[in-house]
Amino acid sequence: MVKPSLATPQRNRQVKDYLSVHFCDEPLAVASAKEYSEAAGLKNIHVPECVGRMLSFFARITGAKQVLEIGTLGGYSTLWLASGLVPEGKIVTIESEESHAAIARENFSRAGESERIEVHVGLAIDQLQTLIQRGAGPFDLIFIDADKDNYPAYLEPCLNLSRKGTLILSDNLIPKRGEIGGPDPRDNEAVGIYTFNQMIASHPRLESHLFPTLVGGSGRIDALGVSIVK
Ligand SMILES: C[S@@+](CC[C@H](N)C(=O)[O-])C[C@H]1O[C@@H](n2cnc3c(N)ncnc32)[C@H](O)[C@@H]1O
Repeated sequence: MVKPSLATPQRNRQVKDYLSVHFCDEPLAVASAKEYSEAAGLKNIHVPECVGRMLSFFARITGAKQVLEIGTLGGYSTLWLASGLVPEGKIVTIESEESHAAIARENFSRAGESERIEVHVGLAIDQLQTLIQRGAGPFDLIFIDADKDNYPAYLEPCLNLSRKGTLILSDNLIPKRGEIGGPDPRDNEAVGIYTFNQMIASHPRLESHLFPTLVGGSGRIDALGVSIVK
């Protein structure tokens, strides 16, 4: 008799629920930000709780003082990052939509984090150049979670804003659809993601890994990119 595969969607969902119950408790400020963002009508496209906890964990184990985030939305992931920061730590977060930035600012204020978090509104590619021109950084930790088709364009500016030892985290490195590693050329997001994966896998200044994550109601397999700057 053929044994049923253990990698069923049902099992993925059970593993995701197990992790959520035991390893992904949200701090109150983070949970409140999620509620406020939902009530304000933001799309539910923030990182899942367990990825949020990983962000906090990476911020804590690196002792990060200066953090850069690309893609704020309502500031859910930003507040997870803040929860792992040393008290004097600061976060710069970039968001193209003023309406999202306004909700994020409200969440930061309600969480008592306005002093530690700066929201820069504009296209990430421009805001990154502005940061480079101003001599900002080097950042200790960078989290990329914006438009996937532009991930490849963000890598060199992020490296410019890094030092040896900077941790670059990148979300959603397994596209939702299509052949793994072989995107439909018309799917700009998937092409962007697989191009980015190749870049971080082979870049001479990076050592990278993809940490599989389970996301969405179904426990679909995604991945968080974790790269250290050499
Ligand atoms: C997936 S959401 C970010 C979720 C957030 N990191 C969280 O987990 O709470 C992506 C965000 O990036 C923003 N965005 C999309 N394209 C952008 C761009 N070119 N420059 C800056 N922000 C962008 C979107 O408006 C959206 O708010």
